[in-house]
Amino acid sequence: MAIRNIVTEGEEILLKKSRPVEVFDERLHTLLDDMRETMNAAGGVGLAAPQVGVLKRVVVADVGEGVIELVNPEIIDEKGEQQEIEGCLSCPGKYGITRRPHWVKVKAKDRHGKEFTMTGEGLLARVFCHEIDHLDGKLFYDSVIEMVDPEELENE
Ligand code: NI
Repeated sequence: MAIRNIVTEGEEILLKKSRPVEVFDERLHTLLDDMRETMNAAGGVGLAAPQVGVLKRVVVADVGEGVIELVNPEIIDEKGEQQEIEGCLSCPGKYGITRRPHWVKVKAKDRHGKEFTMTGEGLLARVFCHEIDHLDGKLFYDSVIEMVDPEELENE
């Protein structure tokens, strides 16, 4: 495993649409392993492949209940609404209150190409939405209602 560089805002790759994975091979497994290590090292709760410079529909997430790997993920159902503070490893120092569904159902494939569905609520729902947006070239600003001054966060 290796820690990869996280692409930051201003790089064009973050605004591009990622391609679906068609081959579930060793290269994909290495990408997933590296993304997991990179996310953990950065202290993030989610990471999408374009953030490490790879335009493939691959996401990892970990909200403290173990690492979740999503290949070609799609949100197939959603309920409710939440407004919480969100940031992004690719947008250091930037935080905003986003509007997201409170609950989502995601359909995806695992690293071997097997399809599964999974639900997430609260933080996990937010992470799923945020990371899947990255695969469509969208940053969290698109969902922000109001930006938050990071200094106010530190004083809390
Ligand atoms: Ni992000």
